[in-house]
This record gives sequence, C-alpha cells and structure tokens, in this order.
Amino acid sequence: TTIYIPRDTTALAMGADLLATEIAAEAATRGETVEIIRNGSRGLFWLEPLVEVETASGRIAYGPVESKDIDSLFDQAFLTGETSHPLCQGLTEEIPYLKKQQRLTFARAGITDPVSLEHYQQLDGFNGLKKALQMDGQGIVDEVKTSGLRGRGGAAFPTGIKWQTVLDAKSTEARNGNQDQKYIVCNADEGDSGTFADRMVMEADPYMLIEGMTIAGLAAGADQGYIYLRSEYPVAHQILNEAIAKAEAAGFLGDNLLNSGKTFHLEVRLGAKAYICGEETSLLESLEGKRGMVRSKPPLPALVGLFGQPTIVNNVLSLAAIPYILSQGGQAYANYGMGRSLGTLPFQLAGNIKRGGLIELAFGVTLRELLEEYGGGTFSGQPMRAVQVGGPLCAYLPESQWDTPMEYESFQAIGAGLGHGGIVVFDNSVDMSEQARFSMEFCVAESCGKCTPCRIGSTRGVEVIDRIRNDDNRAANMELLEDLCETMIDGSLCAMGGMTPFPVQSAVKYFPEDFNQPKPAAK
Ligand code: NAI
Repeated sequence: TTIYIPRDTTALAMGADLLATEIAAEAATRGETVEIIRNGSRGLFWLEPLVEVETASGRIAYGPVESKDIDSLFDQAFLTGETSHPLCQGLTEEIPYLKKQQRLTFARAGITDPVSLEHYQQLDGFNGLKKALQMDGQGIVDEVKTSGLRGRGGAAFPTGIKWQTVLDAKSTEARNGNQDQKYIVCNADEGDSGTFADRMVMEADPYMLIEGMTIAGLAAGADQGYIYLRSEYPVAHQILNEAIAKAEAAGFLGDNLLNSGKTFHLEVRLGAKAYICGEETSLLESLEGKRGMVRSKPPLPALVGLFGQPTIVNNVLSLAAIPYILSQGGQAYANYGMGRSLGTLPFQLAGNIKRGGLIELAFGVTLRELLEEYGGGTFSGQPMRAVQVGGPLCAYLPESQWDTPMEYESFQAIGAGLGHGGIVVFDNSVDMSEQARFSMEFCVAESCGKCTPCRIGSTRGVEVIDRIRNDDNRAANMELLEDLCETMIDGSLCAMGGMTPFPVQSAVKYFPEDFNQPKPAAK
C-alpha cells in the first residue's frame, strides 16, 4: 500500500511529521508493508493533514487526520480501500474544490514527491526546457509574449516585454568569453498577507521553478540565477536546495545543460524578514549584500539590475508559469482568461474562511464564487463584511463589489487590485477604522525610510486615525487623512508608501460608519 502524507509547511504545522511516524509505526506493528511518500500539498488546507491512499481506482483522500484516527483508518480504510470512514473525502481528484479548478501551474502540486526528478519527468517535467534548448532567445521571448503572461507578483507588467528588454540590453561586464553577464532573479520574498502560492510552488513542485528560471536564462542570455527567498520559509529553503543539487547532478542545471553546451547556474539567497525586500530594487540591494533600501527607477532593473547588469526580476508564479507555456505553447496558456488578463491566477483564500486554500482558475471568476462556492463562507459562521484582495497594499471590498470579475482591468476600474492573488476575509466583528490604522502602522514598521511621504506620512497617518477614533476634531482630521493619503500616493518612491493609502481610503469610503463614533484604543 502506498500512502501519501504531505511535507509542506501547512501540513507540518498541522502535525504531518508526527503523523507520518505514527502511521509507519502502526504499519510495522500490524506487519503490513506500507510505502509512505511525502508529497507536496494539494492546497486544500482545511483538510490538512490530508492523507491519501493509492487504490486501483485512484487516490483516496482522508482528512484532516489526527493521531487518534490512525487505528480506525488502518481497520476501515488504508488496507481495505473502504470509503465509509468518516474522514474519507472520496477520490482526491473528485473533491469539488479541486476538480473545478483549472490547474496549469499547480497541475502537479501534491501529486508527487517534490524532490523526485523521476516523478517530475513523468508529469511533463523538463519538456519546456527541452523545447527551449532547441530555440533561440528571441523564439522563447516570442512564445512568452504569445501567452499574454503578466507579472504575477502583483504589478501585472507583461512578462514577454520585460524579457525582451533584457534580451536586447547590453551588459557592461563580459564573462565566460564573449557572453554578456546578465542575471535572472526570482522574487520569492512572498510578503503579502494571506498569500502562500509561491511557497506552495517551492514546496510542492520546485523543479518547475528551476525549469522556468533556466528557460528565462536561455531567453535573455543569462547564465546565473538567484532565488531570493524569505527566511520565514525554512521548509521551502531545504526543498529548493535539495532540488537544485539533484537537478545539477542530473544535468538539468549547470554547465552544458542536457549536453547543449549552454550554461545556467542557480543559487538560493535568504532574506532577513523585511517586507520591503519584496520590492524589486530593495531586493537587488539586499542580494548585493547591502541594506534593503529602495532604488529610484529609472533605470529599470531590466537595464541596470543586479550588480549593475541587465536583470530579469520575476515573481515565483511568473517563472513557474513558463514551463507550461514552453511545453504546451503560448497559445494554450492564452486560451484561458479574459480581456488582457490571460491564463490563470492561483487565488489564495485566507483569513476568516471555512475552507482556506489554493484555487487556480482562469481570470474572470467572481470574488463571490471564490468566497461562497470554494470558501464556504466564514469560519466563524458570522456574516462576511469585508474582503481584502491583493495584500496589505490593496483595497478592502464591501459586498457590493464581490461580483466584479477577478481580472486586472475590472479590479483597477473599481480602485482595487488583484496583487498576488491573496484574499483575506473578515466577518462582521471587524472594525474597519482599526484596519485602516493597521495599514498605516504596517507601513511604519516596514518602510525602508528612504522617502519622506512613506517614512513620516505613515507615522502621521497612525496619529490622525487615532484622533478620528478618539473623536478628536473628527471632520478636520478626516480631511487631513485624505490629504495625507494623496501625498503618499503621489510622492512615495515605491509601492510601499504609494499604495498604503488604498486600503485606508477604501475603509473610509465603504465603511464610513466605522469612523463615525468614538472607539476603544486599538489592540
Ligand atoms: P511596477 O509597475 O513599477 O513594475 C512592475 C515590473 O515591471 C517591475 O519589474 C519593473 O521593473 C518592470 N517594468 C516596468 N516598466 C518596464 C519596461 N518598460 N520594460 C521592462 N520592465 C519594466 O510595480 P512594482 O513596484 O514592481 O510592484 C508593485 C506591485 O507589487 C503592486 O501591485 C503590489 O500588489 C505588489 N506587491 C506584491 C507583494 C507580494 O508579496 N507578492 C508584496 C507587495 C506588493
């Protein structure tokens, strides 16, 4: 019998390691031969630890499994394939939450042992790289342009155009004979509240990221890549390093890639828990060993990036979409989505929600469908009141906006953003003036301090919101808050100060009743 027990952070937090030990021990006690495979997560977090058993008709899921369930699972399920156990969710692939998704990037997530090169290759792995090795840089860039892929970190800049800029750029440093020195940098500093899709890629399917970065290197003529990983992800760190070592040993990384004569090296670098280092220029400073301070743009990193050389800086999800695009063709990817938002977005449901997890769907699904059909309403059972989509720098949405299609332009039209696809849900116990205060407070803590509107504006913002909450000269302070927000939007150097006002303004606009009466001191 083969039993799958995930090894990703979410499952581990829910006790998956202990569970794996106990299941192995129980099998030994019963004299049963059981093979345990530690897979990645399927992204059905409310069922973690989700244990799956291989049967003739497919993998059957049980979850959430606790130690106390092991005995009955052995008696009634693991060895017999019975589906009557109360924790049985049926065939994994048939669970509606998973079945209704359109998984292109996450197609393999949770199916395989993340560091097994063999599993990866059985499921279309490295086919994109093999195609890319037959193409020239321009051919690869054209394929990415055809896909319509836009940066999945949040800003949605067309990836193909960014790659073209780097392909066309001249570096000022020559290395390895006649090759211009350029770099591929993966932004894995996933800092947005409620997001975990980057982590899931790295923990469930790391070779996909390695393959995507290698293809980017071939496209732009860069032979060195770095993954800038947040240090809060120690499991991802370990899995990435293990995968990189195995890929190198098997010729999928390093000199002479698959005997093509081409080169791509890849290393992981750890951040130091600063949200601002997810901003691309701070990230580059940090990667160079300096303090993570924002650089002025221009020049763009595409032209003057890491160590002053042309650099592709892409989010994990953008790079992870590349193997599919190369292997299946850009058009296959562009067949999903709507308008100028093509392909899929892995939405991440978090906060006060019954069924949190990862939902990859084509752009165009409504927020309400995600919240109700997938999420199943709030975890508390209380009515939902506000939803923040796109991380701590994006707007809070009231129910009147939940029917907006999830795609870049429709969200922009309502003054909101999709960001990195994170969705954080609040029930009716939320105090939106406290949330507005939190936005400013977050900026106080995370500002790099280089520009005044962000560094000082956010501190003044906390004070002004406190005065409003204390009923101290409210009307005048509401006006002052609006002025301050505009100054931060117009005058900040990067998105940290420039977008912090968006959640504040949306809270004031859509939840004015929370700013109209004296409030207890913020928690
Ligand atoms: P941006 O619009 O300045 O740039 C987007 C990207 O396109 C950058 O890589 C930039 O260098 C590149 N670019 C722009 N013009 C170009 C050109 N002509 N040629 C080549 N490349 C070009 O946005 P920024 O400041 O990089 O990102 C802001 C976004 O980040 C926000 O929308 C926010 O939602 C998101 N964000 C995401 C977080 C996460 O954890 N994933 C955390 C915080 C913010």
